Formats: sequence, C-alpha cells, structure tokens
Amino acid sequence: MQDFTDKVAVISGGVNGIGFDIAKALAREKCHVVIADLDQEACDAAAADIAALGVTTLGHKCDVTQQADILALADAAWSKFGRVDILFNNAGVGAGLVSSPKMSDADLRWIFEVNFFGNWHMCMEFLRRFKAQDSEAHICNTASENSIGWPMPLMAGYNASKAAVLGYTGMLRMELPDHISVSLLCPGWTQTDIGNSGTRRPEQFGGPKEPRPGFPMDGDFVPYAVETVGAHCLAEIKNGAFYIFPHYAARHLAEERNDEIIAAFDAQTSATPDWQKHDTRSFFEAMQAARDKKE
Ligand SMILES: NC(=O)c1ccc[n+]([C@@H]2O[C@H](COP(=O)([O-])OP(=O)(O)OC[C@H]3O[C@@H](n4cnc5c(N)ncnc54)[C@H](O)[C@@H]3O)[C@@H](O)[C@H]2O)c1
Repeated sequence: MQDFTDKVAVISGGVNGIGFDIAKALAREKCHVVIADLDQEACDAAAADIAALGVTTLGHKCDVTQQADILALADAAWSKFGRVDILFNNAGVGAGLVSSPKMSDADLRWIFEVNFFGNWHMCMEFLRRFKAQDSEAHICNTASENSIGWPMPLMAGYNASKAAVLGYTGMLRMELPDHISVSLLCPGWTQTDIGNSGTRRPEQFGGPKEPRPGFPMDGDFVPYAVETVGAHCLAEIKNGAFYIFPHYAARHLAEERNDEIIAAFDAQTSATPDWQKHDTRSFFEAMQAARDKKE
C-alpha cells in the first residue's frame, strides 16, 4: 500500500501507546481512523483528539476477546465510511514479570485471549470483509521483539502469545490474495502503559489489578519513545516490508537467536544428496502447483 490519503484504518487498542501513535501518524497522512478499545468514553476522547488533526474519525468500544464486539466494530466502521482499507491489529496486554510456575492460569488465558485469539479473530473478520470488498487492503499485526528474538525471562505467557502471532502471520503472507498484504510490527521496548494492562483486566479474567509501580529508570536503560513507532510503521508498509522493526536495540537479540539455531543445525545435521526430497516447503509448493493445474 503506497498511499494512505483518504483511506480508512481501524486500530484495535487505539486509545493508548503504540496504537494511538499509529492513529496520529495516519491522520498526518490524511487517513481516516476508527479507534477501537475497551472503553467507549476513552475511544471517543481519542477519536476527538485525532479528528482535531483534520480527518474523520469514529470511536467504537471493542473488546477483542468478544466476537460480538468484533462484528459490531466492523459493521460500525463499514456503515460510517462505506469501506475499510487497513487493520492495525494492535490490542495487547502484559501480565507483569512472574516466574513461569507462579503464573496464574487466569493471567495466562487473559494474555492468550487478547494477544492471540483476539488478534486472530479480528484478522479473520476483517480478512473476510477485505476479500468481499475486493480492493487493495492491508493488515498490520502487532507482535513484539519477543516474537523474533530474545524470549524475555519472567514473561512466558507474553512471549508465547507473541510467538503465536508471528507463527500465523507468517503463514498468512503466503495465503492471501494479491490485493491484500500483511505486515508484522515488532517494536522493541517502548514507553507505554503496557506495564499497567492489569488495571484494565476484564472481570471474566479476574477483574482489574492494582496499578504497578514503574521500573526504576536511572537513565542508563530507558524504553524508546512511543513516537518512534507510528510514522516508521507507515513508511515500512509503503516499502512493502513484512517485518517492521522500529528499534535497532532488538536487532542483536534476533541475530543471536538465528545464529544459535543455524549453529545447532550445522553441529547436528549435514546435507545429504536427497535432502530436498524431505523439504516440506518444496513438497507444499509442488502440491499447490498440481492443484492449480487441476483448477
Ligand atoms: N510497549 C512495549 O514495550 C511493546 C513492545 C513490543 C510490543 N508491544 C505491543 O504493542 C501493542 C500495543 O501495546 P502498548 O505498548 O501500546 O500498550 P498500552 O497498554 O499503552 O496500549 C494497549 C491498548 O490495548 C487496549 N486493550 C487491552 N486489552 C484489550 C482488549 N481485550 N480489547 C481491546 N483493546 C484492548 C488497552 O486498553 C490499551 O489502550 C501490544 O500488542 C503490545 O503487546 C509493546
């Protein structure tokens, strides 16, 4: 997608942090914006802030763990604008830092319901509508540096949910029709309110938690400013990037993981003359080609 002018974008988790910065960047490019989040008043306030930048907006409550909310959001967006061109599938939560055996089942399920199932169900509903609309469309799924690099200790549920987003988004890239593109936004450590996601935990996952004190920031280690994400993300969608990396500090984590994986292959296996016979990708492509020929 090369141009956002007069397009319509829906952003889940658009009230705060990265989602709100994407909304501002879109408005600067004259793209109309639907802000979706847990609380209607907060959606309305964020939508009003974005409208002040000169675009048309809609604030619509949507808890991405509720399929009825997702349908109502999509209906409201199409009904107001007659079309939607881009989905920023961005809502996400963290449950703080806790060792795996101490992780509560309620938190683990909450994280997966929002970060994976919510992301998946939003994606499938908008995909279905983008296919029917049959015009150029884009889906940007927010994953994390934890999807592609270092699985940060004390965040097992979060890491696993973000790896799941990477897993299915990478596959979508190969399944989508030509008029729909997809990208994976992988921010590094960013200054947002995610550390306090628990204060907005819905009742069905155990209800709100106490606010958490911020990390001590002594100046040696600080998160990236949230303003580093939105404009970068839009520029890379225009560039046709699949992986969108706003932050250099995550690079060495990905490099170390990839190096370790390749080193393990090289230490444990070697090429045999017939290895391609066992290559699942070649097998899949041959199967697809045979199917295409039949059709
Ligand atoms: N901040 C970081 O360091 C960082 C790093 C990598 C990835 N991310 C990802 O970026 C995305 C945005 O997070 P953020 O850092 O801006 O945090 P944030 O807490 O500031 O914003 C997340 C928004 O999602 C909303 N939300 C939570 N549960 C929801 C639900 N069930 N339905 C709809 N909305 C819901 C929240 O109300 C909030 O407005 C998340 O997917 C997060 O995992 C954040």
